[in-house]
Amino acid sequence: MTELSGSRVLVIGASGGLGSRIARRLADAGAILALSGRNAARLDALDVPAERIVADLRSESGSASVVVEAESRLGGLDAVVIASGVVAFGPASELDPDTAIELFAVNALSPIDTIRAALPALTRSAGEGRKPVVVTISGIVAEVPTAGLAAYSASKSALAAFMVAAGRENRRAGIRLLDARPGHTETGLVTRAIAGAAPAFPEGLDPDHVADVIVEAIASDARDLPSSAF
Ligand SMILES: NC(=O)c1ccc[n+]([C@@H]2O[C@H](COP(=O)([O-])OP(=O)(O)OC[C@H]3O[C@@H](n4cnc5c(N)ncnc54)[C@H](OP(=O)(O)O)[C@@H]3O)[C@@H](O)[C@H]2O)c1
Repeated sequence: MTELSGSRVLVIGASGGLGSRIARRLADAGAILALSGRNAARLDALDVPAERIVADLRSESGSASVVVEAESRLGGLDAVVIASGVVAFGPASELDPDTAIELFAVNALSPIDTIRAALPALTRSAGEGRKPVVVTISGIVAEVPTAGLAAYSASKSALAAFMVAAGRENRRAGIRLLDARPGHTETGLVTRAIAGAAPAFPEGLDPDHVADVIVEAIASDARDLPSSAF
């Protein structure tokens, strides 16, 4: 069992539909939070006691500097939850190279760099006898790459693969890497696509349920959250 009370947690993408719900639940469980997002007003609007760090993950030093700042403000880091992400729709034949670059920058490269930057702090946390954890939300597309979402699926598959391999590397150090792969969830993400328009989806998962499952998995020492867990 991972003790959430007193855990020092960085939530990236904290103003998003899933990030904000996860942050709320962690705060209710007594975690000490640093919330990051690219929009100060949206972060301030969250009714969650926390440090706030404004950063755009596409900027060169974005993700690594957020980790350094969070560790400094919280006096250490026991968990990093990466709930940032962007989606794009459309056939592969019409994929704009800039869209592919943004998908990979926000969904794969930035989380990878965040995790790399956080590992030293998480190693210190393990050395203090805590149970550090990294959480990502790649999504069901990492299990079932989906037509009309080829580049999004590829960016999320890249992240999911990194989590498996880096999780194996860090297991002995006591750092848990947990990738959540929920199906379509009603946060409005699909209405904010950076390219293309979403097809008509069947009703998606309840974001409160998805956040509950993720926070329970953090607390219960789970090592994977496949789509079937939602
Ligand atoms: N909703 C789903 O159906 C679903 C299913 C499976 C997996 N996921 C994944 O779950 C994660 C959360 O999704 P969500 O549904 O909560 O979406 P959301 O409500 O749109 O939240 C996405 C978050 O990412 C942040 N973000 C986007 N680009 C950024 C950038 N360049 N720099 C910093 N932050 C950036 C957004 O910040 P702003 O508030 O500043 O825009 C927002 O906080 C994403 O990785 C998504 O791919 C979602």
